[in-house]
Amino acid sequence: MSVSKVPLAGVIGCPIAHSKSPLLHGHWLKTYGIDGHYVHLHVETSDLEDVIRMMPKMGFVGANVTLPHKEAVFDIADQITDRATLIGAANTLTFRPDGKILADNTDGYGFIANLKDGAPDWDPKAGPAVVLGAGGASRAVIASLLEAGVDDIILTNRTRDRAEQMRGDFGQKIRVVDWIKAPNVLEEGKLVVNTTSLGMTGKSRLRMPLDGLRLDAVVTDLVYTPLKTELLEYAESIGCVAVDGLGMLLHQAVPGFERWFGTRPEVTAESRAAILG
Ligand code: ATR
Repeated sequence: MSVSKVPLAGVIGCPIAHSKSPLLHGHWLKTYGIDGHYVHLHVETSDLEDVIRMMPKMGFVGANVTLPHKEAVFDIADQITDRATLIGAANTLTFRPDGKILADNTDGYGFIANLKDGAPDWDPKAGPAVVLGAGGASRAVIASLLEAGVDDIILTNRTRDRAEQMRGDFGQKIRVVDWIKAPNVLEEGKLVVNTTSLGMTGKSRLRMPLDGLRLDAVVTDLVYTPLKTELLEYAESIGCVAVDGLGMLLHQAVPGFERWFGTRPEVTAESRAAILG
């Protein structure tokens, strides 16, 4: 007699207590009446492989992965999606019934889905995208913008080398501009994205003159604490379409939930409320 197991999933990180993902997945499990659980998993780097290999045996069908493990899981996975390879990090693991571990990265998907939600009229071909920051989050944003059809990305980063590296990896559609000159290129951006941590509660402010922003620009910030950053507040005050970063967190969770629990969840006002506690 086969006994069906209650499917488990979770988010692996260190530290992890702050993660909002359990609130979101818990909300979806309840909404769709699925008998499953999604938990915080505090896992040290030295234990990562042992823990991941043990998880399917305990009933886990998958997991999200966050700092500092997003790159290390590449060595454990049996299969890595093209988009995860391109981004150089994974955030979603699926434990397949055949025992294989699939690693994917849904951050870029989440970024574009959020943008389409918040700025349905945004056209990737309308003009350049200005991207502030060239860290890990920026890689996912740039990969997804290129995939969406943007063919001119102006990239600026405090450490210019990291932006040059990105151009080396992603090619000619990226123009690198010195951080100090960023205010001058804002006026070219039909889309402006902050991928830096500037503006986040507890971090430095984004001290950049913003008066160059076009009135018809779409402006989005990956920072979602606060929900309305100074960048978004200013953008909105001059009439730009401003898209907050919380939606990216919600949308990036969709493919994992669907793969693990068999239902594609909808990102709704209720899911936003769930994550805001
Ligand atoms: P993440 O994965 O969240 O992108 P990260 O890889 O540490 O994290 O990148 C953080 C980004 O914020 C980088 O673009 C970083 O610029 P540097 O590459 O020069 O470090 C940017 N950043 C962080 N603090 C900054 C500051 N005070 N001024 C300007 N940029 C800053």
